[in-house]
Amino acid sequence: MSTPTAHTLDGKVVVVPGGTGNVGEGIVRAFLKAGATVVVPSRSQSRLDQLVKLIGPELAAELKTVAAAYASFDEADKLATKIAAEFGRVDHVVASVGGWWAGKALWQTSEEVWEKVFVDVATSHMALARSFVPRLSEDGSYTTIAGFSAAKPYPAAGIVSMQGAAQLMMREILSAELKGQRRVNDLILGPIINRSRPGGDPSWLTADQVGEAAVKVASTPSIANEHVILDTVDDLDKALARTGG
Ligand SMILES: NC(=O)c1ccc[n+]([C@@H]2O[C@H](COP(=O)([O-])OP(=O)(O)OC[C@H]3O[C@@H](n4cnc5c(N)ncnc54)[C@H](OP(=O)(O)O)[C@@H]3O)[C@@H](O)[C@H]2O)c1
Repeated sequence: MSTPTAHTLDGKVVVVPGGTGNVGEGIVRAFLKAGATVVVPSRSQSRLDQLVKLIGPELAAELKTVAAAYASFDEADKLATKIAAEFGRVDHVVASVGGWWAGKALWQTSEEVWEKVFVDVATSHMALARSFVPRLSEDGSYTTIAGFSAAKPYPAAGIVSMQGAAQLMMREILSAELKGQRRVNDLILGPIINRSRPGGDPSWLTADQVGEAAVKVASTPSIANEHVILDTVDDLDKALARTGG
């Protein structure tokens, strides 16, 4: 299996909303290894500080953190304007925003949880897409990260499934509206081995392997407007073989 150690993305600016998260950390590391400047926004300075430590001094020089939210259209617009002005370009965006929640049937779900798990996360994805897609460089790409529950109903985590489904449709709509002007893709992940869940089935991908796939998707012109399904390491190998990686 190849690793994105070649500096295929030297000089590129990649924005990773959700880069502080369990999966986002692996995405950030892979783009840094590929030579990109990686910009990570977060609502929390302490989570940004933690990310810099996790990435380590060898790679962190090109990791740029921005303590700013993107929970509303206005916040995302301000963030995109600031990043484009400060770094001069935005080549790729990989949005790994939103986490897991489970435990209640739909009819038991409180409005508070609905707002947090569905509304806030869906609004952030929409706000990011509408602010960053128009600013992508011509050969740039936008990738959104989703879970298996976005594509099939997951009992007792229904509102995560519903948000993921909305996110996948958002990506399809973007593809239909952009008509090839920019590449937009999504990765649909199975369970991921990560810093919060360091063990798991050997067929599961690690967060670093998700990052490897995200680098390939961003840097391969023929991958456009696709659902890239990555349930297992076998799926990753097949996806990398397609790109000659
Ligand atoms: N972990 C897995 O096993 C797994 C499996 C399949 C798919 N996925 C997918 O991977 C993506 C990231 O999951 P994760 O496990 O990395 O989650 P996580 O560790 O909880 O991280 C969530 C990230 O989203 C950001 N975020 C921004 N606005 C948010 C909001 N309103 N609510 C929640 N988070 C918000 C957080 O940034 P701040 O720094 O601002 O908090 C954080 O960086 C999700 O799309 C998830 O469905 C994960």
